[in-house]
Amino acid sequence: MIIDLRSDTVTKPTPKMLQAMIAAPVGDDVLGDDPTVQALEQKICDLTEMEAAVFVPSGTMGNQIGIAALTNPGDSILVEDEAHILHYEVGALAVLNGLTIRSYETERGTPTPDLVRRKYLAPSLHTPGTTLLCLENTHNRHGGSIVSPHEHSELRQIANELGIKIHLDGARLWNAAAALNEPISQFTIHVDSVSLCLSKALGTPVGSVLAGTAEHIERARIWRKRLGGGMRQSGLLAATGLFAIEHQFPKLIQDHARAKQFSEFINANTQWSSPAPETNIVMLDLDRPATEIAEQCESKNLRAYPFGPQRMRFVFHHQITDEMLEEAGRRLIEISRT
Ligand SMILES: Cc1ncc(COP(=O)(O)O)c(C=O)c1O
Repeated sequence: MIIDLRSDTVTKPTPKMLQAMIAAPVGDDVLGDDPTVQALEQKICDLTEMEAAVFVPSGTMGNQIGIAALTNPGDSILVEDEAHILHYEVGALAVLNGLTIRSYETERGTPTPDLVRRKYLAPSLHTPGTTLLCLENTHNRHGGSIVSPHEHSELRQIANELGIKIHLDGARLWNAAAALNEPISQFTIHVDSVSLCLSKALGTPVGSVLAGTAEHIERARIWRKRLGGGMRQSGLLAATGLFAIEHQFPKLIQDHARAKQFSEFINANTQWSSPAPETNIVMLDLDRPATEIAEQCESKNLRAYPFGPQRMRFVFHHQITDEMLEEAGRRLIEISRT
């Protein structure tokens, strides 16, 4: 049995999700008449309490066009050291958007208002003025850590004071909302722009949605087209998103419970340590190089990624059963004793 914990992006669409896809009425979304895409965008507006939304092919595109539509080339933006937009979007902030990056270090992924104030640059003849604060919730490289609605509201206040906007990489905001049992809007009312992924924990094959003000999304639509992200009968994909929001979103807490169980099991049965997971991402601190352990895992059909010299990441998703969870633990114990 292969147990794939590399990411929550590895899930395959379920038969019911595929049925929803087949049944979806479609149009041509570039021409603006795909009813299922429109229904998905409206659903996201309702959940986020934002004015408008646009369906995009990936989280990377959601982030980059969201940021493009809020900034001008040369502006400085504040980005956390471990952020996805900095690590895994192949320099798009520089290549596509021409931005100056002021990165900041944090313990859990979220800056304090004071840190934002310190990193902010006022515009002048000499300095690239800061126009945007970027946040990530949950934070991938910080082990799925959550930014609480309270932290968001404090960051909103400082952003207002400084006159800057906020973009949220909410690829896994679903997990934060599920873990704290809060509506999505409790987080998003404090940001100007949010990108929500459907193809991570929600388990769809493709797609993300960017939401914000009507004006912001109008600009983002132009960016989507410019980058070749305009899709035609994309209602087929949007249907999987609508299905997932209804049927998968309420079940995310089960992934979180399994992640916690796995982390506790490792702490109790191996010499390795795992910080208590807040959502569906488990980090494992090892006593040997992570690449070596990852290879040993692979040879036992247990898949996970190294996430540092002696750290590995295991991500839980709806296609990991209790049986797989127990089996993954057994295989890791064997490896830890070699
Ligand atoms: C936090 C975060 N943001 C954005 C993305 C980008 O999503 P995509 O792979 O759909 O471009 C990912 C992907 O794993 C992610 O983990």
